[in-house]
Amino acid sequence: MNSDTPLQLLGGLTAREFMRDYWQKKPLLVRQAFTDFESPIDADELAGLALEEEVESRIVIEHGETPWELRRGPFTEETFGTLPERDWTLLVQSVDQFVPEVAELLEHFRFLPSWRIDDVMISFATPGGSVGPHFDNYDVFLLQGHGKRNWKVGQMCNSDSPLLEHPDLRILADFEQSDEWSLEPGDMLYLPPRLAHYGVAEDNCLTYSVGFRAPSAAEVLTHFTDFLSQFLTDEERYSDADAQPVSDPHQIQHDALGRLKSLLNEHMGDERLLLTWFGQFMTEPRYPEMVAGEALSEEELIDSLEQGAIIIRNPSARMAWSEVDDNLLLFASGQSRLLPGELRELLKLICSADALHAENLAQWLGDEASLELICELIKQGSLGFANE
Ligand code: SIN
Ligand code: CO
Repeated sequence: MNSDTPLQLLGGLTAREFMRDYWQKKPLLVRQAFTDFESPIDADELAGLALEEEVESRIVIEHGETPWELRRGPFTEETFGTLPERDWTLLVQSVDQFVPEVAELLEHFRFLPSWRIDDVMISFATPGGSVGPHFDNYDVFLLQGHGKRNWKVGQMCNSDSPLLEHPDLRILADFEQSDEWSLEPGDMLYLPPRLAHYGVAEDNCLTYSVGFRAPSAAEVLTHFTDFLSQFLTDEERYSDADAQPVSDPHQIQHDALGRLKSLLNEHMGDERLLLTWFGQFMTEPRYPEMVAGEALSEEELIDSLEQGAIIIRNPSARMAWSEVDDNLLLFASGQSRLLPGELRELLKLICSADALHAENLAQWLGDEASLELICELIKQGSLGFANE
């Protein structure tokens, strides 16, 4: 994708301009980011998804049994029969994993790393429906799918911003409105992390949230050090062969900190391990139970492809790749695999193609390492045969 082409999605800005001026900085309203947008899913289908065990869903009722009552799915048909006339919202997470046409929307966001994208959440709200004024720690593109929603944006927040007392929801106690828009189908609002926002349905409406993910510093440190510790032996310890006799045995001298710092730096500074951990961490699937496959021999793979089989990425799998020296690392669903540099085009194809088949895989089918890789990914469940 050329970063200097004006994009309708970004209101005529190029991806480069958007990243420079708006991304992680300030909101951007785009009228008709999608012309004549027709939601690939309607309210009934969304409610249907919320009945499923494996789908994460919530309902927020402003004047429920308690103010801003939160109910968690899966729901039953009866739930929907007992809801009030108005002022409630159903929110369904990761609809992209269940509805391919919703996943296709993500193709428009390819100017951002795919491993930064979390999911497409879709909300259905009745008139007045809202989840209250709040802020998120992540970037989000809010695409109006159906009906109208009024969006107000406010102040930048942080963990000190006062919240209403609520056991589950983080609703802001103060909202300092700075802008307000009414969004119609196809309109889209980009919000940077921590910007207060408040969306209220004007009529029955569907809103798509393309949400991003960014690990917190606490997550990076705990998970990376956990990962690192697998490679450390018990013998590797604080050591002070250079120490001098001490004048006060109770004092921790600063030279002890120096030794600790070098111990930390030696391990924390290992770029190869950092990359391996990061790729694995960022490709961990949201629903690991939906990433499962079956063993397949290389002969079986070739036979199937010759008979016209189509291999697709599991919509629940996440994939990414990177370079290490002359080799490549492929990350798939939380695992990594070191591969020779010659497989670069195959990795790119696996990560990006809608479908893999005898034709686009032709040049790789005589290559042992390529066949082994594809079989491994099928076994792991990151790739699978279509219509099985
Ligand atoms: C919604 O769709 O109602 C909420 C989306 C958000 O504010 O993050
Ligand atoms: Co939000």
